[in-house]
Amino acid sequence: MKVTTILGSPKKNGNTAKVLGLFEEQIAQDHNVDRITVATSSIKGCLGCHACQKVPDEPGCVQKDDALPIFERMMSSDVVIYASPLYCWGFSSQMKALLDRHFCLVTGYGTPDYKSLVQDKNVALLVTCAGPVENNTDLIQTMFDRMSDWGQCNVIGKYVVPFCTTPDAIGAEGMEIVKKMAADIAAAQCQ
Ligand SMILES: Cc1cc2nc3c(=O)[nH]c(=O)nc-3n(C[C@H](O)[C@H](O)[C@H](O)COP(=O)(O)O)c2cc1C
Repeated sequence: MKVTTILGSPKKNGNTAKVLGLFEEQIAQDHNVDRITVATSSIKGCLGCHACQKVPDEPGCVQKDDALPIFERMMSSDVVIYASPLYCWGFSSQMKALLDRHFCLVTGYGTPDYKSLVQDKNVALLVTCAGPVENNTDLIQTMFDRMSDWGQCNVIGKYVVPFCTTPDAIGAEGMEIVKKMAADIAAAQCQ
């Protein structure tokens, strides 16, 4: 299977990159991995012009930046992993820009012409944060569920590595989380 990972951290070598790298090492033993790094991509904020809503068969965004080739890579993959640091209880602003631009992947929401270009895509969330899971990561997890529901995607799992300090300090607990994540994703693809 092809697994597309999206690194949403502004840091190329921060906590999220470290944890995502550990996951990629695991999954790459048996599958193809394609990483997208939002921090080195040019992704403008959604203009809210709704022009894309008239284009159901392809991502019809009028802004021809890196978001469009990113969507093509996502659409051609079996699984998409969204990896973000927890910033103010939500996604990093870099990742949020890409998520807002997902608007062009769904047309006719709430009408009989409802169509998603990522329908049935398996997706998972990976979050690193300085604090705990509880009363801290609930909003990002709910947002991910809502986005996935709107896009008619299947959420395979949501994984949080709490109490992160530095990349070097991410040890056994982080490794256990990414191992479980890789196993869950491989199992979901077999279903
Ligand atoms: C702007 C900002 C906001 C943050 N907000 C939270 C937060 O709401 N909860 C939390 O537990 N950690 C928060 N943190 C800590 C980061 O989530 C944590 O250090 C994360 O692992 C950083 O990942 P990175 O190295 O990939 O950027 C915040 C850090 C920054 C810079």
